[in-house]
Amino acid sequence: MKSITALLPLVAQTLAVESNGPAAQIPLEPSTILPLDPLTLDKIPLLGYGTWNMKSGNVSEAVSWAIQTGYRHIDCAAAYGNEELVGRGIADGLIKTGLTREDLWITSKLWNDHHGLNSPEAALDTTLQKLGVGYLDLYHMHWPVAQSSFGNNRIEYLDTWAAMGLLMEKGRTRHIGISNFDPSQLKDLLAHTSHPPAVHQMELHPYLQQRDWLDFHTKHGIHVTAYSPLAGSNPTYDQGDLPQLLNNTVLTKIAHKRGCTPAQVALAWGMSRGTSVIPKSQHAERITENLHSLACVLKEKDLEKLAKLGEERHRFNNPSKGWKVDLYKGLEDGGAKA
Ligand SMILES: NC(=O)c1ccc[n+]([C@@H]2O[C@H](COP(=O)([O-])OP(=O)(O)OC[C@H]3O[C@@H](n4cnc5c(N)ncnc54)[C@H](OP(=O)(O)O)[C@@H]3O)[C@@H](O)[C@H]2O)c1
Ligand SMILES: *[C@@H]1O[C@H](CO)[C@@H](O)[C@H](O)[C@H]1NC(C)=O
Ligand SMILES: *[C@@H]1O[C@H](CO)[C@@H](O)[C@H](O)[C@H]1NC(C)=O
Repeated sequence: MKSITALLPLVAQTLAVESNGPAAQIPLEPSTILPLDPLTLDKIPLLGYGTWNMKSGNVSEAVSWAIQTGYRHIDCAAAYGNEELVGRGIADGLIKTGLTREDLWITSKLWNDHHGLNSPEAALDTTLQKLGVGYLDLYHMHWPVAQSSFGNNRIEYLDTWAAMGLLMEKGRTRHIGISNFDPSQLKDLLAHTSHPPAVHQMELHPYLQQRDWLDFHTKHGIHVTAYSPLAGSNPTYDQGDLPQLLNNTVLTKIAHKRGCTPAQVALAWGMSRGTSVIPKSQHAERITENLHSLACVLKEKDLEKLAKLGEERHRFNNPSKGWKVDLYKGLEDGGAKA
């Protein structure tokens, strides 16, 4: 398999192109210059479209619009309960753009109720059928947690992983990945498999930067996808006392200087680290705005200022309490929540 981390042209562009003074406002219409990178089967596009919390309203229209405006990477999951609606949006987007299935990178995730040696195949079948596609580009284990045995998951996730490896060999998914693993779980997995994960999807944004953890993945050739890249903008998260990331003055000042929006700065920052980002929006103008983060050019000094926001170490997504399992042990703002 070719390295999935060979994503560097875009990153190089983000870092190398220096402009002077405020840049022109990035246009918000669908654009012919994007996507900048042709899709190849082994390279996850750095910008993707998230689909969590899209259950009602114009879900299919939003997904179709995302494809029409230039997204080529869609992030789905069985647990989001919307794969049929998302699938209809994918079909509509393909018709409206004249693209085919192979022009998209489609990711989905195995839920906690289908762990073990025998269940993943049925779960993937259902996902493929609902999305209306013949294969996935990437299938993640959503959590290292099997619902049937909370508290005793070590064996389960190794079995689950073995079953996912077989699904890859059968061509039902081109790659397999993990999500929400901690260092001891990932090391355990790497020690017991001949299929290292291609991608690890985890929470990452300027308030939770996890630099060392990211470096560990780079060393092991595992690509990282940043979820919730706009931090607490997801309304299901508890914002606490933290200023909204998109309203943080460090971010808004940089945005003003570079002719970008705060969301574009957050996404460009994520891509500058080599991670893919998968912002979710159900609003047409924000979907386009987020896509155009590909054209938001940050300078080194912006990145230095954004690095300081990492001192917050704030994790929004931690279901350890409700699930009664210890998650994210040894990671920033990790461990069980009381
Ligand atoms: N593996 C996992 O366990 C896991 C966990 C969490 C998320 N994910 C994936 O990651 C994706 C993204 O994360 P997320 O949905 O948690 O949060 P997010 O993408 O960081 O933020 C989404 C929220 O921000 C708003 N928003 C989007 N673009 C905006 C903009 N340009 N300006 C202002 N507000 C904007 C959206 O509102 P509107 O929709 O109203 O526009 C939505 O409420 C998910 O959809 C899912 O695919 C995976
Ligand atoms: C979905 O509906 C909302 C509210 O009517 C609207 O603001 C938004 O732009 C629509 N999204 C799309 C992709 O059409
Ligand atoms: C954003 O910041 C301004 C002032 O800096 C404040 O008045 C406003 O309430 C903030 N909005 C949000 C959504 O936090």
